[in-house]
Amino acid sequence: MVIDKSYVISEIDPRIYGSFIEHLGRAVYGGIYEVNHPTANENGFRQDVLDLVKELNVPIIRYPGGNMVSAYNWEDGVGPKEERPRRLELAWRVTETNELGTNEFVEWAKAANADVMMAVNLGTRGIDAARNLVEYCNHPSGTYWSDLRRKHGYKDPHKIKTWCLGNEMDGPWQIGQKTANEYGRLAAEAGKAMKLVDPEIELVSCGSSYSAMPTFPEWEATTIDHTYDVADYISLHQYYGNHENDTANYLAKTLDMEKFIKTVIATVDYVKAKRRSKKTMYLSFDEWNVWFHSNEQDKAIQPWSISPNLLEDIYTFEDALLVGSMLNTLLKHSDRVKIACMAQLVNVIAPIMTETGGGIWKQTIFYPFYYTSRFGRGLALHSIVQSEKYDSKEFTDVPYLDSSVIYNEERDELVIFAVNRHLENGMEIKSDIRSFEEFEVVEHVVLEHDDPKARNSISSEQVKPHSNGLSSVDNGYLTSTLPKLSWNMIRLAKISNN
Ligand code: AHR
Repeated sequence: MVIDKSYVISEIDPRIYGSFIEHLGRAVYGGIYEVNHPTANENGFRQDVLDLVKELNVPIIRYPGGNMVSAYNWEDGVGPKEERPRRLELAWRVTETNELGTNEFVEWAKAANADVMMAVNLGTRGIDAARNLVEYCNHPSGTYWSDLRRKHGYKDPHKIKTWCLGNEMDGPWQIGQKTANEYGRLAAEAGKAMKLVDPEIELVSCGSSYSAMPTFPEWEATTIDHTYDVADYISLHQYYGNHENDTANYLAKTLDMEKFIKTVIATVDYVKAKRRSKKTMYLSFDEWNVWFHSNEQDKAIQPWSISPNLLEDIYTFEDALLVGSMLNTLLKHSDRVKIACMAQLVNVIAPIMTETGGGIWKQTIFYPFYYTSRFGRGLALHSIVQSEKYDSKEFTDVPYLDSSVIYNEERDELVIFAVNRHLENGMEIKSDIRSFEEFEVVEHVVLEHDDPKARNSISSEQVKPHSNGLSSVDNGYLTSTLPKLSWNMIRLAKISNN
């Protein structure tokens, strides 16, 4: 690798380490909120969950959905709890008690040191419900909705800055699915009204539900043409799975993610050119993760149950490697990807798992997210990488080495995140870091395991990092050994600073 201080891609927007809590399964009830749990505080928030969420250093959390938002009446979730209606929640076919709603979530996010990224329902509802919610949340006082918030006990406005204009409106599974023109027009008008209520807010226009949608990227080209002036970001969603049990191919799936990002950039830039616009549309990758382990077991869930164990993927070691590479991919595109939300945060396809009434534990994927979020702040750097390559079932020329490089100016620290995709061989990498004079290795953290399918559980943490990685600097060159199938973080600084 050749790494140089002056090869800057972009300042990394901290919101690239966002996450997501949907009213789905045990994310809310039994996850972040469990009134009778021994660690619950006076608001019913589990302190053990809050502590781990804070460890992950998540700056923004998307809420309340996801698919759920497309038939959600936000009014059901505010005001006295005993008056809140129970509803059939159609997206996941469960019963929603509405015990927790907008105000409680805003409070929870505050306790987690995170901002809220609020989604509005553009499935069954529209402009009116959306602008009323902005008024309820953000207008100081003196109007019907802002005074209602005050009456509900929240004197100060929530000042929610980032808003999603619906969710996955291209998907046939979505309640109120729309054609690109229908969605584009509705989102543009809803967004216009929302910004009239509060001009400070930023808006995310819905992109495709995933890169293999038959309407991708025509959906982006058409919808963005309608929303270009009012929206600030376009959303991307993508989940991967190792359905074929082919690890080499699975670990190469970030090549698809990269193609997806590049295609969205090309499409929105085409609309920019067509409209002769000076404005650049940024990307909000507001759902990304691994999701496939729970697909079969979810089919057995009884309809209309309350907070069932939905989407409880138990992650393997190889999933953690892919998550590490997905983070590398986001960082390498941080000039355009300004927001990203790992989906989701607790119990539902999540790095943090709880037992209802019981303990808490970290999934394998917790670790790459934890280190990247903690140390991947500052400037993302281009690096020139030469690596041997392989071909897999779906991909050609897959580099064995996948990496991203960060320079944190504030801490004067160089950080390399690197995945060795090789199933059998360790790899020695030599990096030219001569522009980082007198830098030495502070730590080389490694996540490795002999069994790609190793998992963690409440009683045994099989997959956890160690700090015995082999890295050293000699005369401006860093030499590092990456074990076979491993995720690594190599952190360097001037030793005198530490
Ligand atoms: O995160 C789970 C689901 O995945 C979300 O509800 C939806 O937006 C996506 O399809």
